[in-house]
Amino acid sequence: MKEEPPPSWQYDEFKHAGVDYASAEVAKEYDAHHTRIRDYEKDARLIMDRIGLKPEESVMDIGCGTGAILLPMARHCRKVYGADVSSAMLELCQMKARQQGILNIETQHAGFLTFQSPPEPLDAVISVATLHHLPDFWKGVALSRIHNCLKPGGKFYLFDVVFSFSPRDYYQELESWVNGMQKKAGEAMAEESRVHIRDEHSTYEWIMDGMLEKTGFAIHEKHADFPRCIAYLCSRK
Ligand SMILES: C[S@@+](CC[C@H](N)C(=O)[O-])C[C@H]1O[C@@H](n2cnc3c(N)ncnc32)[C@H](O)[C@@H]1O
Repeated sequence: MKEEPPPSWQYDEFKHAGVDYASAEVAKEYDAHHTRIRDYEKDARLIMDRIGLKPEESVMDIGCGTGAILLPMARHCRKVYGADVSSAMLELCQMKARQQGILNIETQHAGFLTFQSPPEPLDAVISVATLHHLPDFWKGVALSRIHNCLKPGGKFYLFDVVFSFSPRDYYQELESWVNGMQKKAGEAMAEESRVHIRDEHSTYEWIMDGMLEKTGFAIHEKHADFPRCIAYLCSRK
């Protein structure tokens, strides 16, 4: 079915708020850095366990990047769809899939607001460290679109920077985030936090909870696996 073009007032999600992942060099650096600091297999296993992913199921990863979670997940289920606004990140993801002999993935150059719904209702949608690229109003639109492509009862797993402090405490909380990063991980990570705070769109926990509930999700679990981040396990009501 041919989809309508987006209205002229739609937010341009391709214009990259904050970190710009558009070039092949940035994509390569991102993947090299994250391969060093993360264990992709272990992270994917945790998500698969939380959403209870079964071998016959299909899932979509929005903001799949270089395939950190999408590729290990593809080895454990029937089909994985991926979407990302950076074609450089997607190309690296596809190259790694070819190298690893992974054939059951399908990616599209699109984001939360522009992805084409997969041809089947999905068992699960996941999104890791990506929703903060959209301003809050557009997060609501993104969540409604995710809701629409899930089976009733389908799972939605969202991991992102989400602020649990009171708005009145923002100054000390953000200063302590940046200073903590500086001490623990060095200047590059401290600068990444500054860019995140200044140019990206992380929101408060009470706003995220409200948006999930208003768009028709039941929140089952919330995990604070990392400081200032929340992993939400939800299902389509
Ligand atoms: C921090 S990376 C996370 C990538 C991957 N999920 C991971 O765990 O490594 C953020 C990703 O979100 C993508 N992105 C930014 N805005 C987006 C949007 N509106 N829709 C989908 N992806 C987006 C970027 O291109 C980038 O690949």
